[in-house]
Amino acid sequence: AKPAEQAKSKVLNVGTDAGFAPFEFQDEVSKKYVGFDIDLMEAVGKQMGYEVKIQSMGFDGLIPALEAGNIDALISGMTITPERAKKVNFSKPYYKSGLSIVVKMDNNNIKDFKALEGKKLAVQIGTTGAMEAKKVKDATVREFNTAPEAFMELKAGGVDAVVNDLPVNEYYIAKAGAKDAKVVGEPLNSEEYGIATAKKNTELIEKINKALDELKKNGEYEKIYVKWFGK
Ligand code: ARG
Repeated sequence: AKPAEQAKSKVLNVGTDAGFAPFEFQDEVSKKYVGFDIDLMEAVGKQMGYEVKIQSMGFDGLIPALEAGNIDALISGMTITPERAKKVNFSKPYYKSGLSIVVKMDNNNIKDFKALEGKKLAVQIGTTGAMEAKKVKDATVREFNTAPEAFMELKAGGVDAVVNDLPVNEYYIAKAGAKDAKVVGEPLNSEEYGIATAKKNTELIEKINKALDELKKNGEYEKIYVKWFGK
């Protein structure tokens, strides 16, 4: 077989938690997983000569799945942290993010992170948002399996605020039609997302980094970025 044909048969099993629009979510009509991360991962795979197969699972199960060898890589809006980097290999950063707060439209007392003290907060379990929320003085932190569930709890009035990634919060409000909610305050911090592979799989992370470099050079990254975030 020609090299290109051989390459096509290689499969990369990639895990994600597909409840994090616009990075990864399920298209309501086609039921396919779509989003910035999905497009990027598919482009990375293509560049490497792999077919990418996406599977969705709980966010807090992603690193264990990598460690167990059930998936080859993960892409899930996952922030590169020193803690996680002890367990997995992260690629170079592919997206700059940060945490922010979502409150109900009629909430006029929470305007920044300081104002979260003593409040009820909803977060997604295992996320950087959960970590930061737990540092807030006297706050009650309720952890949900998915980000959409945290938003639902806010909508239902069970919490005062959601602490979550800014681009996801903005998308929730702009695109998911959450007219009863708003993003407040400056982003708490600056975070960067990375693709991850198992610790022992250094060859794969090098290939992924190379592919990312290539996609930045050839304009493909830019195209995907503009598709999901505009100019
Ligand atoms: N960036 C945050 C973190 O790494 C949240 C990521 C959540 N991703 C998801 N697909 N639900 O902790």
